[in-house]
Amino acid sequence: MTMQFLKFRHAMAVVFFVISASSAPAASASAALALEHGCFSCHGELSRGGSPTFAQLSRHLAKYKGQTGAAARKGEKLKTDDESQDITPHRMLSSEKATLLLQWLIDGVAP
Ligand code: HEC
Repeated sequence: MTMQFLKFRHAMAVVFFVISASSAPAASASAALALEHGCFSCHGELSRGGSPTFAQLSRHLAKYKGQTGAAARKGEKLKTDDESQDITPHRMLSSEKATLLLQWLIDGVAP
């Protein structure tokens, strides 16, 4: 009886975990978002046209970890700075997506 109850509790915990994980708002980006926006064509391991790889960018951006507003600020810069005007995928990002992607880079490019 007790065992069955424990198993039931365990199953409920798993169900709860799955539901809360899948209904979480898109508060964090992942490699999928970068893939979707074509970022890897220049920033993948075989970077193109002298662009830094995401691994390099991420190491460079790690100093902003935990800084409020850093992702939004760097995201806005990515969309608007002079060098970026030639890079359509930079320019075309929404502010929201730019912030998410910069946060992903700052946090160390988890898959
Ligand atoms: C056509 C090639 C190309 C694509 C596609 C591209 N980038 Fe870049 N990116 C570059 C180059 C070149 C640089 C270095 C020059 C610069 O800073 O703009 C760069 C720089 C950056 C930087 C550093 C900017 C800084 O402040 O130093 C970030 C962050 C970045 N890219 C993110 C992205 C993201 C996110 C995407 C996808 C939406 C993306 N890039 C798509 C070529 C590209």
